[in-house]
Order: sequence, then C-alpha cells, then structure tokens
Amino acid sequence: MTVEVKEGQDIQKVVQLLIEHHGHEKSELIPILQEINSKFGYISDDAITEISERMNIPSSHIYSVATFYRMLSTERHGQHVIQFCESAPCHVAGGRMVWERLQKELGLKKGETSEDEKWTLLTTSCLGVCGVGPVMVIDNDIYGNVTPEQVPDILSHYS
Ligand code: FES
Repeated sequence: MTVEVKEGQDIQKVVQLLIEHHGHEKSELIPILQEINSKFGYISDDAITEISERMNIPSSHIYSVATFYRMLSTERHGQHVIQFCESAPCHVAGGRMVWERLQKELGLKKGETSEDEKWTLLTTSCLGVCGVGPVMVIDNDIYGNVTPEQVPDILSHYS
C-alpha cells in the first residue's frame, strides 16, 4: 500500500504522511525513499532534510543511500529516463551506433535532461542481459537487440 499524494502537496507533508504510514524504523528508509522518488521523480535536498529530522537519521546517511541505489536519484530527471548499457558486451554488439542514434534523436548527451523535461539520457553498466545486447531501459521497460533504426520507433511509444 502506498500513500496518496495530492497535486501540489509540499514535500514536508508528503514525508510526514509516508513516515506515519511506514513508521520511524530505520529499516523503512528505503521504502520511503522509493515512494518519494516515484512520486517526485527524484529525492530533493528538502526531502532528505525532512526525513533526517523526522526519523533522526543523519542527512549524510540518507544521501549515501539515495545515491547508492540505481532506482533512486537525487537529481531531477525528465518524465522518462533512458539508461543505456555502456559495458563491453553491449558495446561490441553494436551499442556505439545505437548510442549515437539515441543522442542524435534526443539532442542530448550523457546525463542531460531535455528542456521540456520529457527525457533524461543516462548510461548504466551491465544490466545482466548481455545475450540480447545492445540493451537499454526506458523507465521500467527493457529493450534488447536494439538497432539504430529502431530508436525513433521505440521513443515514439512514450508520450
Ligand atoms: S553488457 Fe549490456 S547488458 Fe551486459
């Protein structure tokens, strides 16, 4: 069960609701961070400060957790996040050409977010599915055997 967040609700209120729902145990930190990440697209400094005060956990610890896990981010991302595998097996399977096409189609370089905040383009190390490389993940969707020609069509599935 997750906490319902109303439009425009401030981060202090959201953190309060999440902690009321999950409890103050340190073991609940990751589920709380996951919910904040999914509701806001990232974990802001304000969120970290608020959690720190309410759960009595040092901000530095929360920050290190929030930056350790790939599914969490402390930077504001676009509506859709692309993670392109840049490890060697995907690279030799044609990844470089796909990566170049992706950057061209989006007009973005590694780590950038589009001005309309629709896309964030990131790279990742091996996703464990090298047999179907080149591989990329868009939000929670994984694409394998991607060719440069497929890139525009794949991107068009995201509004
Ligand atoms: S190298 Fe790309 S998924 Fe393993």
